[in-house]
Amino acid sequence: MSKYPHQPPQKEHHVPILLDEILNELDIQENDTILDGTIGLGGHSQAMHQQLGKTGHLVGYDQDPNAIAFCQSRFSSYPNVTLINDNVSHVHPSTSKHTPKKFSKILLDLGYSSYQLDHQNIGLSFLQDGPLDMRLNRNTEQNSASDILQSYSEQDLSDLFFNFGELYQNKRLVNAIINERQKTPITQTNQLISLIKKSYFFHQNRRKMLKVFAQVFQALRIATNDELGHLERFLAQLSDITEEKAVVVIISFHSLEDRMIKQFGKRKEGPFKARYKKVITPTQNEIEQNSRATSAKLRILDKK
Ligand SMILES: C[S@@+](CC[C@H](N)C(=O)[O-])C[C@H]1O[C@@H](n2cnc3c(N)ncnc32)[C@H](O)[C@@H]1O
Repeated sequence: MSKYPHQPPQKEHHVPILLDEILNELDIQENDTILDGTIGLGGHSQAMHQQLGKTGHLVGYDQDPNAIAFCQSRFSSYPNVTLINDNVSHVHPSTSKHTPKKFSKILLDLGYSSYQLDHQNIGLSFLQDGPLDMRLNRNTEQNSASDILQSYSEQDLSDLFFNFGELYQNKRLVNAIINERQKTPITQTNQLISLIKKSYFFHQNRRKMLKVFAQVFQALRIATNDELGHLERFLAQLSDITEEKAVVVIISFHSLEDRMIKQFGKRKEGPFKARYKKVITPTQNEIEQNSRATSAKLRILDKK
C-alpha cells in the first residue's frame, strides 16, 4: 500500500533531454529490440518507437508505478511496446519473465522526471515542502528518506553526506539531525531545510546555500533509492542481455553515476567500450529551453 496518495501524471510534465543526440548515436533500425530502462513519461521512447518498424520491439521499465500508468495510456495503441513496473536492475532473464530476447539498443535516462520532482510531492526537491519520503516505488519495504534520518548512526549519516552528496563538512548537520530526531521525527522537507540552515554559515550567499541543499537532498535520494547499487547491478548484466554490436546510451545527472559509467567504458575485460572519450553535454540552447538539462552527461557504450 502506498503511504501517500498519488495520481499518475495527466500530461507530459517532462521534456526529453539530449533527444537529437541520442537518436543520432543509437541509429535505430526497423527491427531493433530496444530497452528503455527508465521510461519515465515516455518522451524518448515515443521518438525511438517512431523509428521502429512492425518487426521491432520496445520494452520500457520504470520503478515508479505512476510513470508506467502514464505510459500504458500513452502507448496503448502500440502492440510492440511492453511496459514493466520494476527496477531495470532486475531485467536479467534469470530474474525477469518479461524480457523478450536480447536487446540491440538500450537507453538509460537516470534520475527523476520533472513530474516526480515538481508534482509528486514525495520530498525529492527542496523547493517545496512535502513528506520526506523520496522512494520512487513506495510499494516496497525500502526505507524512506525520513526512516534513514531516523535510524542511521552518526557515522553512517556522515558517510552518506560525504559519499553521496560530496558534502565533506557535515558534522554540525549530523549533530543537528541527531538532536532533532530525539525530540521529534524528521518527516518533512522543511524540517530538514531548517536543520541545514542552522548548521552552516551561508553569510547571505544564496548560491552557497542552494548548493548545500542540493548536496543533502542528492545524498538522501541516492541512498533511499539505492541508485548506485542498481546501476552497478545493471551494468554487470549488460553483456548477458545484449546482442552483438549493441549500443547502450546512458544519461546521468551526478558525478558519482557518471564516474561509474566512465570506468565501465574503460575496462579492459568485457565486450563494451566507450565510443568517445569525452562526455556529450546539452547545447547552451537546450539548457536555455530546459534548465533540467544543465547537469546531464551522455555516454555511449558499444558492444564488440
Ligand atoms: C529522467 S526520467 C526519464 C524520462 C524519460 N526519458 C522521458 O523522456 O520521459 C527517469 C525515470 O527513470 C526512473 N528510474 C530511475 N532509475 C531507475 C531504475 N534503476 N529502474 C527503473 N526505473 C528507474 C524514474 O522513476 C523516472 O521515471
